[in-house]
Amino acid sequence: MLCAGSCGDGADDASARRYHVDVHSHGRPEQVRVRHVSLELRLDFTTRVVSGVARMQLERAAGSSSLILDSQDLEIEAVTGADGQPREHELAAPEAIMGSRLVIELAPGDQEVAISYRTSPDAAALQWLLPEQTASGAQPFLYTQGQAILTRSWIPIQDSPGGRVTYDALVTAPAAMQVVMSADQREQLAPGRFRFEMGKPIPPYLIALACGDLARRDLSDRCAVYADPTIVDSAATEFEDVESMIAACEQTFGPYRWGRYDVLVLPPAFPFGGMENPTLTFATPTILAGDKSLVALIAHELAHSWSGNLVTNATWRDFWLNEGFTVYLEQRIMELVYGSDRADMEILIGLQGLDEELRHLPDEEQVLHINLDGRNPDDGMTAVPYDKGAAFLRRIEHVVGRPRFDAFLASYFDAHAYRSIETGEFVEFLEDELLRGDQEWAQAIDVATWLNAPGIPEAAVRPRSEAFNRVGDFRQRWLAGDAEVSETADWITHQWLYFLAEMPSLSADQLTRLDEDFSLTGSGNSEVLTAWLRLAISHEHRAAYPRVEEFLMSVGRRKFLKPLYEGLVKTPGGAEFAKRVYARARPRYHAISRRTLDVILDYQG
Ligand code: BES
Ligand code: ZN
Repeated sequence: MLCAGSCGDGADDASARRYHVDVHSHGRPEQVRVRHVSLELRLDFTTRVVSGVARMQLERAAGSSSLILDSQDLEIEAVTGADGQPREHELAAPEAIMGSRLVIELAPGDQEVAISYRTSPDAAALQWLLPEQTASGAQPFLYTQGQAILTRSWIPIQDSPGGRVTYDALVTAPAAMQVVMSADQREQLAPGRFRFEMGKPIPPYLIALACGDLARRDLSDRCAVYADPTIVDSAATEFEDVESMIAACEQTFGPYRWGRYDVLVLPPAFPFGGMENPTLTFATPTILAGDKSLVALIAHELAHSWSGNLVTNATWRDFWLNEGFTVYLEQRIMELVYGSDRADMEILIGLQGLDEELRHLPDEEQVLHINLDGRNPDDGMTAVPYDKGAAFLRRIEHVVGRPRFDAFLASYFDAHAYRSIETGEFVEFLEDELLRGDQEWAQAIDVATWLNAPGIPEAAVRPRSEAFNRVGDFRQRWLAGDAEVSETADWITHQWLYFLAEMPSLSADQLTRLDEDFSLTGSGNSEVLTAWLRLAISHEHRAAYPRVEEFLMSVGRRKFLKPLYEGLVKTPGGAEFAKRVYARARPRYHAISRRTLDVILDYQG
């Protein structure tokens, strides 16, 4: 079976078009492919429903008669052709992970169909927030999250990263609210009426929308930040280096091809750190630390403008092509903008997290080219595609040298721009363009082991960090009661994270002293706070539990929630506490976080 999408930039480039088998989509784009989607949508905060029309422009193979789309929990009201007459369609029974196949019977000449539909109030891609879940508390908020296979729950579409569409949208919202989308043009026509256009072909998981009480501050000619009016100024200060980050990327990896690069700071319920929606990164407010210490996340989402959005994983088993490349690029950006000491610390923290996760992951999930047949692609979101993927690229860089590797990366992005590729296509390009039959290099890199074997190859490059070595030394002396608190006066966030992550088992007195010495419970840095609360939880240090509860009630970022709840359920008293908090907090979490946490907490409705 051929499947899921053209990789080509334009319709005229038929020879370059390849279709990828995507087990996570019903689409059959090799028969009829959606090229452009025109949305006309109304956002209703009272019923929590998005409704309207999706007009699709099609490209058809000779003799094709049906358009097959993905959908999930959508109510299809009507399907019509360009003549305004109805077209027969059938919505199949929903499948657990994939949703419902929507089959539309086309008339022979149909190049376009219009689908009138409504979303379900429980649509997985949509999170509707109450005013009290926003910083100002004045207006409700709505945002979408498409990756990996959730776009189908708010737009009927061929929902595979192997296919690309352009889109435009006309959106109606309550008059006082602002709507933004992942589009290169954003225009307000009238109060509550907005128009958007994305003229570059993107995979459907990157179609995104948000609506709320938003203010905007410009960072440069092409960058701005959108956020709740009460935090927009602090966000603008936190992200003031974004323009330098783009310049660093352009100098190394090729031009930024998306026009604007804006950042939208979402309410704390957002389940991820960031999401690379083109022209408009979505970000959690938990990176607003006040000292730019967590802006690597912005570097990461920006880097996706090359790896992910320009060159896209064709299927979710190739997810490491998106994330491994992006973590590698992120670390290069951090080095260029903030220097190698900081970049090395961030690389080491990534590797530490990878080492920790590999201790518990089954072998088949430790490979980059992972098999996700029959599984939710979200299950592939471990440190493996991210930090092992980046370590693989760092290893190649080490073997061939940075100048050659940089030239290779720039040509990789250029040669595959606006296309979706599989792991095998990357390997081919690597062999043809970089290794060119050099056996020594091929052996030193050992592509097959990196892609298909569990664990981390011995040859992985692990930077050294003097700053971390000093932290290690301080930790030993502090544990022995032989250190001055003032020695930590100039520590940065990363040193605190390293200090806490490698703590041995502590006594109750030591925990109390740790918090007294370094004011950890009061930390305003979400990463440091989570590291401390994890330590407190694993030792059942009850004094910190009110802070744990407050954090779990206000933040929806899965990366933080997961280890905190996991730690709690491992201890007898903690499990009961966790279940009580979860019962109250769950309605505030996004469906993505709920799915993960329901399992950890053994939650049944
Ligand atoms: N694209 C991902 C988020 C994602 C992946 C959403 C898979 C849904 C399915 C984004 O770029 C990302 O990786 N975010 C990370 C932050 C990053 C600094 C590692 C996150 O949210 O933690
Ligand atoms: Zn990413």
